[in-house]
Amino acid sequence: MRPRSRQTGLLRQRFVPFSRPDLGPEEEAQVLQVLRSGWLSTGAKCREFERAFARAVRARYAVALSSCTAALHLALEALGVGPGDVVLVPTMTFASTAAVPQHLGARVAFVDVNPHTLCVEPATVEEALVRLRQQGLRAKALVPVHFAGLACPMEALQELARAWGLYIVEDAAHAFGTTYGGRPVGSIGDITCFSFYATKNITTGEGGMATTEEPRWAERIRLMSLHGLSANAWQRYSMQGSWHYHVLAPGYKYNLSDVAAALGLAQLRRAEAMRRRRQEIARLYQQAFSHVQGLRTPPEAPPGDVHSWHLYVLKLRLRALRLNRDEFAHALQKRGIGVSVHFRPLHMQPYYQRAYGLRPQELPRAYWAFERIISLPIYSRMSHEDAHRVVEAVLEVLKEAAR
Ligand SMILES: Cc1ncc(COP(=O)(O)O)c(C=O)c1O
Repeated sequence: MRPRSRQTGLLRQRFVPFSRPDLGPEEEAQVLQVLRSGWLSTGAKCREFERAFARAVRARYAVALSSCTAALHLALEALGVGPGDVVLVPTMTFASTAAVPQHLGARVAFVDVNPHTLCVEPATVEEALVRLRQQGLRAKALVPVHFAGLACPMEALQELARAWGLYIVEDAAHAFGTTYGGRPVGSIGDITCFSFYATKNITTGEGGMATTEEPRWAERIRLMSLHGLSANAWQRYSMQGSWHYHVLAPGYKYNLSDVAAALGLAQLRRAEAMRRRRQEIARLYQQAFSHVQGLRTPPEAPPGDVHSWHLYVLKLRLRALRLNRDEFAHALQKRGIGVSVHFRPLHMQPYYQRAYGLRPQELPRAYWAFERIISLPIYSRMSHEDAHRVVEAVLEVLKEAAR
């Protein structure tokens, strides 16, 4: 006969998905208003969303875009990153953080991360800068990723950036609602890029935002987001508008639609309540797992700051377990829990291994962490019951996996 815990696990049918957007009547009303307005593309709603977003993160300028990838691309373009330049990117990130420097003809230099926070830290950034200097190279920009919603050590990174003449473009795809030193992420580095992808803390389905204090960069990002045109369609087709426009640069098609912006506006209004719900779930997980042998819980924000808990990434203490990470993930899935891994480090991805001749052990901390990390479901629509089911399933798998 099977052990009882296993049987009860298998009998449960309902799947707890890894992620689910939190949309309700406010989003529906906002979108309906746009659908009935007769204007669907970039227009008044986008401007309203940009103003509200800038206020929320205390930034001077915010430009709405079609994704965080687009924001990262245009941010680096606005800073003049181009062929021959080097951009420092943490290896523990999503594909786009490193793809965009490549799109601009720049070279990526991967930086190892702190094995606990999975964020870049000043010591490893400095090591990378010294290594580059020994090769006769100088980095132009650093793209710190606020991993899972925990801010990178920005003060020390900014000091390094000043000393080495680096721009900082923050990848804040995970970090809407995060604060550092009491300031919201979005008002700290040179340019900050947010994602509104469907799993993010606030979503527009697909979407992104770039924020900055510098008017020249905001203007350049806006220009390049819509074909490099001197006047956007909204300006051209309005009553006071004129059909004339000039192509000022070979721009991209990275604008956000008013339909998406309407979703974003409704999400922004509920953002604080949604963030609190994520925090409650994170707290429940922390309490359930922090003293469990075989697990290491993720770090919290320092006192006074906010972790936005976009992801909840547990680490397995492999020495205490008979299962490896993939087997552990599979066992959770079999119990109806959606899980994921963030991320396979980019220096371990086939393209970068081929293009730069990198080996996994070259960035040892990310390599070490990769074998141990597993992301559990966390989202504002998650019920208390589902969060408890996740806890129970993790503890069940652990019990079976213990040496
Ligand atoms: C760290 C990080 N950067 C960038 C992105 C890209 O965001 P988007 O899908 O909005 O382009 C993601 C997406 O999940 C991400 O996790």
